[in-house]
Amino acid sequence: MSARPAHAELERRLLDTGAMAPEWAGAFRAVPRSGFLPETMWPFDTASGQSLTVDRRTDPEAWYRWADADVPITTQWDDGRHVGPGPGHVYTSSASMPSVVFGMLRDLDVRPGMRVLEIGTGTGWTAALLSHRLGGQWVTTVEVDPDVAEQASANLRRAGCSPRVVIADGATGCRDNAPYDRVIATCGMRRIPPEWIGQTRPGGIVLVPWGTDYSQRDALALLVVAADGASARGRFTGPAQFMKARSQRLVWPRHEEYVTDWPGEVSTTPLARRDLVSDDPYGITEFALGLLVPDCTHTVHDQGDVSTAWFYGLTDSSWAAVRFTGEGDAEVYQGGPRRLWDEVEAAWRRWDGQGRPGWDRLGLTVTAEGEHLLWVDAPGRVLSGG
Ligand SMILES: C[S@@+](CC[C@H](N)C(=O)[O-])C[C@H]1O[C@@H](n2cnc3c(N)ncnc32)[C@H](O)[C@@H]1O
Repeated sequence: MSARPAHAELERRLLDTGAMAPEWAGAFRAVPRSGFLPETMWPFDTASGQSLTVDRRTDPEAWYRWADADVPITTQWDDGRHVGPGPGHVYTSSASMPSVVFGMLRDLDVRPGMRVLEIGTGTGWTAALLSHRLGGQWVTTVEVDPDVAEQASANLRRAGCSPRVVIADGATGCRDNAPYDRVIATCGMRRIPPEWIGQTRPGGIVLVPWGTDYSQRDALALLVVAADGASARGRFTGPAQFMKARSQRLVWPRHEEYVTDWPGEVSTTPLARRDLVSDDPYGITEFALGLLVPDCTHTVHDQGDVSTAWFYGLTDSSWAAVRFTGEGDAEVYQGGPRRLWDEVEAAWRRWDGQGRPGWDRLGLTVTAEGEHLLWVDAPGRVLSGG
């Protein structure tokens, strides 16, 4: 039994909700997340929607309470450039929510004797859980940030776990210990590297948070590697919001470099804000639209009763703005080579025409040529991709 009531309570909750499969309970108890967190850490407080600063030296009770809570905890800001106790600008390494970690481990379906590659070591906690279950010699974990990797190695040593920790860009996998039975990525990807598929044996699983630059709303793709050893396909287990792999981060467009011809072409649309924006954090709309409108990102500004959605092309300077007032049709402004709003509206109509499929109806094929094909219900029913 755990010495800390909050830790035991978290275990009960993870088991009761099915987030944690019973075979992971031993690892949950043996390698608690608190052993992988720094003295100063920044848990995300869902009640206030903000990151808090918690220091074990000044408030150990709060520190352990947060360590045992089902929240993500930032452990590095701004690629390590941030100094000072307050939160930084962009979180760049973290310990994910325990329900997410164990949900992924459940989906990964590991069994003794399997060889696993993790991309994104972070604190080392996931690698420790895997090592406890399988033995460290079967686990390889790759971290791009040397300082993060060094701290993770120290955490792992203290916990008595000995996976192989590699400092590298995980986009090329890790050939040395291949072939793997399982690859698990804990950073979001825009393209799934062919190396991950090639380094996994046929029938093995690649589990990866994947999506487009249209929004931060990704999904967990559970892909099974085909007999050719070069392609993979599978379904989505649900939504996911992970920090993106360093090499695949979006550089946010500079508005003033796009909107040089305001108001551009002016029109109206009958679509409403609710057609584009899921207020539910598990909503699928943004993920789906992103797959149907390639090379586009967007943001929505709400000001009182008026919302403005801005769209920017990622391969040229196309832009669009749609102003929703809640009364009548929305005003549309578009400029640059593409008509981005027309593309988004056409995508929405296609999506709507398919009956707005949920996560359970969608699947992904990554071909040997590297194409990413999104399908509905069956691999032959391709909705988008290339
Ligand atoms: C959400 S954290 C990982 C959490 C981790 N699995 C744990 O148990 O604490 C994501 C990590 O991925 C790392 N990362 C980002 N891009 C990467 C890349 N291209 N290759 C390897 N690691 C990367 C980040 O530095 C960060 O530490």
